[in-house]
Amino acid sequence: MALDPQLLAVAIEAALAAGQIQRQYFRHEFSIRKKGTIDLVTEADLAVERDIRERIAWHFPSHTVLGEEGAQSAPTSASPFRWIVDPIDGTTNFAHGLALFCVSIGLEIDGRVALGVIYEPIGNELFTAERGEGARLNGTRIHVTQESSLIDSLLVTGFPYTASDARREQLDIFEAFLARSRAVRRLGSAALDLANVAAGRFEGFWEQGLHPWDVAAGALLVEEAGGTVSGFGGEAFDVFVPEIVATNGAVHPRVLEVIGAIRRG
Ligand code: IPD
Ligand code: CA
Ligand code: CA
Repeated sequence: MALDPQLLAVAIEAALAAGQIQRQYFRHEFSIRKKGTIDLVTEADLAVERDIRERIAWHFPSHTVLGEEGAQSAPTSASPFRWIVDPIDGTTNFAHGLALFCVSIGLEIDGRVALGVIYEPIGNELFTAERGEGARLNGTRIHVTQESSLIDSLLVTGFPYTASDARREQLDIFEAFLARSRAVRRLGSAALDLANVAAGRFEGFWEQGLHPWDVAAGALLVEEAGGTVSGFGGEAFDVFVPEIVATNGAVHPRVLEVIGAIRRG
């Protein structure tokens, strides 16, 4: 069933407003706080999340919001609608004046992501997807590539802030893909990584340690652009499970093979 068009309209309104706030702060003075040893939160992250929450509350008072920089808002009723928001994905880049960041807004209905919007305000790229309706960039349909050979693929990945026991495995996987692909990039924004897979600029993306707000919108974009999204073992993707492989579909089996071989030792 087609979604109420107001849902996408509000998601786009909130994403464009977020981009406007990001542009106002970007490369200007703003306060920065450390959430962990290397994990940052800036004044801009907080301002953007506040603005998005206010817009959602204004339009849809019964909906809940799960945002990176705030607690989940209390539902006023048992609403099936939950917005999953990353006010700035790529905060480290943002804080260093590097123009690789975006806002990511996903909407879950009855536990399934139904809509996703990612806005990259410096290049003015608005990525939108509705389940079953395809993915778009600035209104034009986008598709993943058809490349099926890993050696001709451009891949992208990222690393979590916490250097856990998994770091050795992450580096082994990274090294294996370096040897088997055209190149591997590390942009510092998982949402942009996914949007760029959807737009046919990367063949594939993998990462461990991500949160639902990093991937909710982007995973839907990849699927709606014709790609495949799964866990590291090929299992069905779940935004609450912190492992993701998102590809054009054609290289998916090969990407899983490489990860599987490292995991099996
Ligand atoms: C981070 C980015 C980065 C990824 C990290 C995320 P943030 O999100 O998506 O690419 O490697 O794991 O936490 O902190 O910039 O919103
Ligand atoms: Ca993030
Ligand atoms: Ca963030």
